[in-house]
Amino acid sequence: MESLRNPIITVAGHVDHGKTSILDSIRKTKVYETEAGGITQKISFTKVPIESIEKSCSLIKKNNIKLDFSGFLFIDTPGHAAFSHLRKRGGALADLAILVIDINDGIKPQTQEVIQILKLNKIPFMIALNKIDNISGWRRQADNLKENINLQSTNARQSFDEKLYTIIGSLHSHGFNAKPFYEVTDFTKQLALVPCSAKTGEGIQELIIMLCGLSQKFLTEKLKLGKDAKGVILEIKKEKSMEYAEAILYDGELSNKDEIAIASFDKPIITKMRVLEQIRPISSKFIPVTKVIAADGIRMQLINSEGILPGMPFTIFKNNLEQLEKEFKKEIGEKIKTDKKGIIIKADSLGSLEALITMLRQERIQIISAGIGKITKKDIISAQTNLREDPLNAVIIGFNTEKDEEAKEMKISEIKILTNEVIYRLIEDLKKYQEEKENEIKREKLTQLAVLCKLKILHQYVFRNSNPAVFGVRVEAGKLRHGIQLINSDGKEIAKVKDVQENQNKIEQATQGMEVAISLPGTMFDRQLAGENYLYSNLTENQFKQFKDNKNLLTRDEIQALQKIAQIKRKEKPTWGV
Ligand code: GTP
Ligand code: MG
Repeated sequence: MESLRNPIITVAGHVDHGKTSILDSIRKTKVYETEAGGITQKISFTKVPIESIEKSCSLIKKNNIKLDFSGFLFIDTPGHAAFSHLRKRGGALADLAILVIDINDGIKPQTQEVIQILKLNKIPFMIALNKIDNISGWRRQADNLKENINLQSTNARQSFDEKLYTIIGSLHSHGFNAKPFYEVTDFTKQLALVPCSAKTGEGIQELIIMLCGLSQKFLTEKLKLGKDAKGVILEIKKEKSMEYAEAILYDGELSNKDEIAIASFDKPIITKMRVLEQIRPISSKFIPVTKVIAADGIRMQLINSEGILPGMPFTIFKNNLEQLEKEFKKEIGEKIKTDKKGIIIKADSLGSLEALITMLRQERIQIISAGIGKITKKDIISAQTNLREDPLNAVIIGFNTEKDEEAKEMKISEIKILTNEVIYRLIEDLKKYQEEKENEIKREKLTQLAVLCKLKILHQYVFRNSNPAVFGVRVEAGKLRHGIQLINSDGKEIAKVKDVQENQNKIEQATQGMEVAISLPGTMFDRQLAGENYLYSNLTENQFKQFKDNKNLLTRDEIQALQKIAQIKRKEKPTWGV
């Protein structure tokens, strides 16, 4: 029997549903307790040899399960950030996934995000329905999970069933036929749910058995070791002025003498390594080695580490630069396609950038540039350039990233920067912003086209009776601007506004609430205006209709002014504007 590489098992799910705790329970560690605030900050990996698993899971021997690989490489993901970081050529970095759902909390946005990504990448997965111990009245009654469930009190059992079937129902709406694992008859067609508790250990043995069984049964073809070393960079870390690249080797064999090629947006980065290290079993420590076989967590001290970005794929380099360049270009180019115009996006790794692009595409949002890393001055400048062409595109989205120091110093008023760790929120925020902005622009256009205004004459401020008449007005609604034709309350044309002045200075326009002086040529105040209280802008029938069609963009006062103008006009011509 040829050797198989270790399966990569990725644990994902909504924040706090117990991913790290379940892993702790499987590997008999206490990582959760060492995490700041009990929150997983970044992706981490642990190698668990089969011997350790067999020790903690007597069911493996009891069920006579033989495994053709030497252990599992578990990947823990932070619930607050999308697990979409984990990318490799042709899919996500997981041979099998465990989706953790708190049985009492059900399916949450992050759960949905994970489901979508698992579906998109066709990754087989099972569901750990965690925290059964929190169900009211639940008691641990037996070691065997099914027996344990059957021995619960009527109330606890009822509550368990209700929660279970609600989750099964939601999964159904996502297109999955889910069942408790003991009812599954065909693992290729049904999604197995394993009720469990990381706290009491209930169901954890069953979870491990399922992992082993599914891996051995369905993954063997996928787990055949490939010829070339292939991996993905997870993180670049600085430690004592040394730079390390933490990575996952997901296929092939890598030696410390090998030269590797790492993809970038530009040419591949070719480098040798000073040191190659392998992660220790059930530990977060690394040891120097001469050779590593996939799948494994590794750390490399690279001779040339400049420009290496998290999430980028790498492979062994065999003087095949041209071919690799093509391959990388295709791989990255296919994922990171941009448009001639659109918004600017940034993410912390290639995988998250790709996930963001996929979701934006589903919403038909165009992207002009996509990059990895923090939001920089350059991004802000290009957003400002967008402003001139289409203000809706003067937006920068940062997924799991933020402004760098230089960008933080910049004054930005007209462009919008949205950052979040959850893709769904980013997309919601973007849509909301663009909708608001669009209305604002429409409104702006509408009021540029024609001017709707209602003025109150301030009789105590008549500065000049005629040639031209100069007097004070208050803008009661809309806008007052040079050039607009005013009518009185009988619809008689008075004059076109020559100037608008505020404190004896000429101004472009006056808005609602302002008190200004206007000059009207060819008007005699005492004869024509002494008996008037209000003046209105003269609208054509067409202009009126445009305003009416866009009523939702007008203020209440503007609508009232519009109604008044229509009333005046209809006195002369009853069909006006109807
Ligand atoms: P993030 O990494 O922040 O997304 O969280 P996580 O999904 O890794 O959850 P974590 O393991 O940190 O657990 C979250 C909280 O739930 C902690 O307070 C755990 O002690 C608690 N918890 C986890 N599993 C169980 C369980 O089975 N039962 C009970 N009662 N509490 C649990
Ligand atoms: Mg965690």
